[in-house]
Amino acid sequence: GGHRRVLRGTTPAQGRRLVTVSTEPLDERAAAIGRAGAAEAAAAGNLDDLAEVERKYLGKRSELLEVREAIKTAPAEERKAIGRAFADAQAEVKAAVEERRDALIVDAAGASSGPALDLTLGGRGYRRGHLHVVSQVWRELEDIFVGLGYQVFSGPEVEDDWHNFEALNFPIGHPARAMQDTLYVKLGEPEQVMLRTHTSPVQIRLMETLPLPIYAVIPGRTFRRDTPDARHSPVFHQIEALVVDRGITMGDLMGTIETFIHAVFGDEVRTRFLPSFFPFTEPSAELSFSCPFCTGGCRVCSHTGWIELGGCGVVDPNVFTAVGIDPEEYSGFAFGFGIDRIALMRHEIDNIQAMLWENDVRFLRQF
Ligand code: FA5
Repeated sequence: GGHRRVLRGTTPAQGRRLVTVSTEPLDERAAAIGRAGAAEAAAAGNLDDLAEVERKYLGKRSELLEVREAIKTAPAEERKAIGRAFADAQAEVKAAVEERRDALIVDAAGASSGPALDLTLGGRGYRRGHLHVVSQVWRELEDIFVGLGYQVFSGPEVEDDWHNFEALNFPIGHPARAMQDTLYVKLGEPEQVMLRTHTSPVQIRLMETLPLPIYAVIPGRTFRRDTPDARHSPVFHQIEALVVDRGITMGDLMGTIETFIHAVFGDEVRTRFLPSFFPFTEPSAELSFSCPFCTGGCRVCSHTGWIELGGCGVVDPNVFTAVGIDPEEYSGFAFGFGIDRIALMRHEIDNIQAMLWENDVRFLRQF
């Protein structure tokens, strides 16, 4: 190899860092290289620098190997001492490199993950997930109605004005439309396509297509331009029920709702119907139930003892006429409750934002 020729050639111009031009005895020269190499290894700031030190002092073109080559040119009686000095120097550099490498690896592990690298640690396990609290309540409510003989239906989240308002007896310009702050979709004529503001449009879709009688439950996502607070969210969930049959009365509605509330909150809970207004039901009522968490008022029921859940009523004859059902022959009832409110009450959660949007797994894991 070339470096051997250089070694023997001994001219400074050719010689890079030549050992054999030095007047220093070879054994002392080896020891000096060993000390320098060990010092440089100990000072290496990172693994790359350390690899460079290792290459320089222990690699194929190292000064130490040049010393070893030079042994051949040394007087016979000095060769043994030079050989020993070479081996000692090489061992010294090797040991320093290994020690520094261990330290740098531990430092790197410590810098990236806090505690030092512990190779005895076990792996990271996978945590088993579960349904979101709203999905759990949604399915539970569905099950209650399936148990009562109802069928489960869903409808589109993007609706047209006919289904969301007009067929439900909201005349154009009627103030009741303003009760539901609508998020319109820019499609077709202005204010004709919207994110549904309630699940009631699915009532219309079912009455337009299903044979009678209808016993339907309709859970789904709904949207309003509501400002988020502890009880309101712009995206929320409702569960709607629709019954159309012969001889259905307000009594059927009240009995069904009471059965439902008892199934969800227990038999001690009482229901309260206050007169209300919805364009698509007549008479209409606002349903509340007695707070399951107190007897005289607490934080959950805003110190009223009652919790409002949604609207209900007997299907307005105008709605039947709009979908071609004879109101003289058929009657029905409907209600629409907030699923999120039920989930909040069931689990005594005091803020819909925390439940729906923050998605803090430490919080959601509890339910
Ligand atoms: C309605 O949406 C009617 N469609 C209910 C109905 C159906 C009446 C069938 C008669 C017959 P209302 O706007 O009151 O009614 O909403 C019903 C329930 O949805 C409320 O009581 C509440 O529990 C829930 N809700 C309404 N807005 C929000 C919101 N921004 N965030 C969370 N829940 C809401």
